[in-house]
Amino acid sequence: MTNMASQSKTVLITGGAGFVGSNVLAYFFRKYPDYHYVVLDALTYAGDMRDITEEIQKSRNFTFVKGDVRDKKVVDDLVAKADYVIHFAAETHVARSIADGEIFFETNVLGTERVATAVHRNRDKVERFIHFSTSEVYGTAESELIDENHPLNPQSPYAASKTGADRLIYAYHMSYQIPSVIIRSFNLFGPRQHPEKVIPRFITSRIIGEPLTVHGTGESQRDFTYVDDVARAIDLVLHASAEKVVGEVFNVGNGRGVSIKYIANLVLKMVEPVNGAKGGVQVVSTSDRPGQVSRHAADFKKIKTALGWQPRTTFEDGMRLTVDWYKQNRSWWEDKLKMKQVPIELKKGRVEMQ
Ligand SMILES: NC(=O)c1ccc[n+]([C@@H]2O[C@H](COP(=O)([O-])OP(=O)(O)OC[C@H]3O[C@@H](n4cnc5c(N)ncnc54)[C@H](O)[C@@H]3O)[C@@H](O)[C@H]2O)c1
Repeated sequence: MTNMASQSKTVLITGGAGFVGSNVLAYFFRKYPDYHYVVLDALTYAGDMRDITEEIQKSRNFTFVKGDVRDKKVVDDLVAKADYVIHFAAETHVARSIADGEIFFETNVLGTERVATAVHRNRDKVERFIHFSTSEVYGTAESELIDENHPLNPQSPYAASKTGADRLIYAYHMSYQIPSVIIRSFNLFGPRQHPEKVIPRFITSRIIGEPLTVHGTGESQRDFTYVDDVARAIDLVLHASAEKVVGEVFNVGNGRGVSIKYIANLVLKMVEPVNGAKGGVQVVSTSDRPGQVSRHAADFKKIKTALGWQPRTTFEDGMRLTVDWYKQNRSWWEDKLKMKQVPIELKKGRVEMQ
């Protein structure tokens, strides 16, 4: 632990009742029990208080504020007390953004503007501000691996809104020297991810004996990182010296493309359906989801060189941990299944559940 890390700090985490935020909170709470943690979360359909353990919720070092990142006053009051700000709150589901994009731009762009402005206003207090961006800003890879200089060609409303937020942070750093760092994370997986996302959708479908539906050819690839590995990257960025990280963009990923078909087949192997039901992989032959990125893997040399970060959990090991969690926490996901699919209008005017 560095000197800086051993002092007690107040960490504001927006979106801390969602998948990534709650896992990062749990990681930090274990590692820095003397810090004070404040979670700001609107508890949309994607937020769940059960994502935050009872131990954390009962701790004197924890405060939960139900509120919206678009609310200037709430955001400003909380940022005024924070040494560190980690901004996750967002609308996050690509398919939902294709069905209706408006809330994505409101939350992801305007919400980020509120947080960045509050950081600027409270610049004497805030030491570091991590904006959690996504590799979706890059679009389909133009080279085998994507580094931070790859062009930004977002292909869905979700990706476009996150690109707006990402560039807004860059502009606020250039204009006001806010102490920001942008982390562009490739796909993440692990416990407490909503079953609308592909890995938990496959695992939960398999547990209840439904076929795993793969759209398009299933050949499109993603680079998946286990969520604890990204928590470690955030830890390193938060506690690094300012010269190394402030104003920078860092990719976080594994550099390995995994196809959707491979994931489906792995889930079939790892999960026995209850009651011996016979689900298999059902390939629905459609064109891919509109806005689907076909190839996507990270070049993470920059964060490795600057901070020594590299992933520690293989995809297969992370999958075992994730499968175990979903098997043991059925009551958490069962009532979310009704939201696992979204109707999307495809090019030919055909509506399909994705
Ligand atoms: N999950 C991934 O694979 C992945 C990869 C790269 C980047 N990201 C980014 O990580 C962040 C978190 O993603 P996630 O997967 O945990 O998403 P999630 O949907 O599980 O959680 C989002 C959280 O934000 C909260 N929220 C939404 N709108 C809000 C608002 N207006 N005010 C306050 N809180 C609000 C929700 O209640 C929820 O708790 C997002 O910024 C996302 O773009 C995620």
